[in-house]
Amino acid sequence: MRRVYLETVDSTNKWAKEHIAELEDKTIVYTYNQTSGRGRLNRKWNNIGTDNIYASLVLKPSDKMEEVYSNLTQYLSVVLAKTFEEYGVTPNIKWPNDIQINGKKISGILAEGVGINNYGRCDGIVLGFGVNLNTSPEILEKINQPATSLNIETGKKIDKEKFLKKLTDRFCLLYDKFIEEGFLLIKEDYTKRVSFLNKNVSVNVFDKIVTGKAIEITDNGALKIVDKNNNEQILFIGDIL
Ligand code: BTN
Repeated sequence: MRRVYLETVDSTNKWAKEHIAELEDKTIVYTYNQTSGRGRLNRKWNNIGTDNIYASLVLKPSDKMEEVYSNLTQYLSVVLAKTFEEYGVTPNIKWPNDIQINGKKISGILAEGVGINNYGRCDGIVLGFGVNLNTSPEILEKINQPATSLNIETGKKIDKEKFLKKLTDRFCLLYDKFIEEGFLLIKEDYTKRVSFLNKNVSVNVFDKIVTGKAIEITDNGALKIVDKNNNEQILFIGDIL
């Protein structure tokens, strides 16, 4: 994978989108000092110090939009989970793509399409992710949701370069196959790490709350919920509360 290292940047996603034309397919833009990171749902992504990873994968699988691209965050979540597992920890995936350990967030993903129009054009996909590698409980306490980091979970300092190499190698391993075959390729790997199946959940979908039992991850990565009247709902997007 090609690499672009930025000493400091406001947001690697923003930078990657601005430079999409000159960036090649399968490039990782990364920094250890991100000053104004953005998360999903217009939240911010905190700068928790320079021993952590703030990165964006630039992908240009083709110049037209395909359904499988919306599953790329789930592909990355499996790659991240497996990379964490190499350190002896047991991460879970909170649908669709948060990575947690014991209910505390350790990594988040923000995907953004560039140059997408109603005729199916797509100039590229920017798959941003942050990984908490080395930080202290005091810093994490200031984040407005339960969070953890790999050094806290393992009791060891984590080499960020080694982590990044493991992650990018693993991403490349099945990426081309994933683009061809879609979510089914990773369905089993994904589903066995999902944390809330067969539990009652409330999901925020465009400011509407959907409540019910999460019963299945479908063949295209959606979440199937059954409500108290036995009605099924298939959610393609949302945030489990
Ligand atoms: C989330 O869980 O809300 C997604 C967080 C994504 C954060 C990463 S850090 C690198 C990249 N640049 C950004 O501005 N955001 C993403």
